[in-house]
Amino acid sequence: MKILVLGANGQVGRELPEAVRLSNMKDIEVIALDRHALDITRQAAVQQSITETQPSLVINAAAYTAVDKSEQEPAIAFAVNRDAPGYIAKACANDGIPLLHISTDYVFDGEKPGSYGEDDDVNPLGIYGQSKWEGEEAIRRNLEQYIILRTSWVFGVYGKNFVYTMINLARQREELSVVHDQHGCPTPARAIAITLLDISRKIADGGFNEWGTYHYCGQPATNWHHFAGAIINASQDKFAFKVKHINPISTREYPTPAKRPKNSVLNCDKIRNVFGIEQADWSDGLRAMLQHEHFSDAFQ
Ligand SMILES: NC(=O)c1ccc[n+]([C@@H]2O[C@H](COP(=O)([O-])OP(=O)(O)OC[C@H]3O[C@@H](n4cnc5c(N)ncnc54)[C@H](OP(=O)(O)O)[C@@H]3O)[C@@H](O)[C@H]2O)c1
Repeated sequence: MKILVLGANGQVGRELPEAVRLSNMKDIEVIALDRHALDITRQAAVQQSITETQPSLVINAAAYTAVDKSEQEPAIAFAVNRDAPGYIAKACANDGIPLLHISTDYVFDGEKPGSYGEDDDVNPLGIYGQSKWEGEEAIRRNLEQYIILRTSWVFGVYGKNFVYTMINLARQREELSVVHDQHGCPTPARAIAITLLDISRKIADGGFNEWGTYHYCGQPATNWHHFAGAIINASQDKFAFKVKHINPISTREYPTPAKRPKNSVLNCDKIRNVFGIEQADWSDGLRAMLQHEHFSDAFQ
């Protein structure tokens, strides 16, 4: 099986080839293109790469993920998160190639009590969520053989994320204030990569017909304040932290350019029922990240 990965330098993009290598999947060849090798906003280049590579399937791990910056740069957010997935879907449709695409919990407004299912109404609160939702729709319009995997609160050893931010702040400050009233599920980037590979294998085995939208995130649900505490606890033997208190604060006390849903817990029953894929424990993913050979590179 030949998998073409787009956005190969991101948190998930970098985990995909590593997950293949570590699990010894010798029958999988990964062709990984970062933004310099293929800018997904260039439609002709997207078509050319897919046609030349002729992969068994494409995984789009590229996105404009700066949630707050998207409010100031909507044109870039829509170009990368809405228009480009449409180009990729069209190219895949032209060549008869399935597409696995990643989307976000931020398509929801967070007003629902309980977890969100795939069929729940969307109502993004900001440009990032809106652009990702319109990207999903561009795929649905242009391609039948697609999987859209919505996930949330992604962290991993590669790239920028909440884990690195909390560790850096805890090294500098005695007191941190972290919001406690946004509920969601941290998800290890490695677990997303493994999930995408499990789905890829099911597709490659043939006879697959369960195309559509799926939710996948880590467990259990938590809030950012609790997650911050878990990060500091798990990493305190590695750093001389200054931090003494992590204060729980409300979203109102920490205004950001983009509004975020107060509840974005994703219900993952469908992916379990169809693919037999279980949610990863985010605390295991956190421990694995802290033990990764590249973890300390971020602090040099
Ligand atoms: N991060 C989260 O918390 C989160 C939560 C829910 C869903 N998701 C979704 O999960 C997926 C993976 O997220 P991630 O955290 O791995 O994102 P990430 O670390 O920000 O990686 C995204 C990658 O996309 C690349 N990219 C941006 N514009 C591009 C373009 N025009 N052409 C080609 N590549 C481009 C970036 O390239 P550069 O490295 O050159 O900038 C980056 O390597 C995305 O679809 C995201 O929306 C993420």
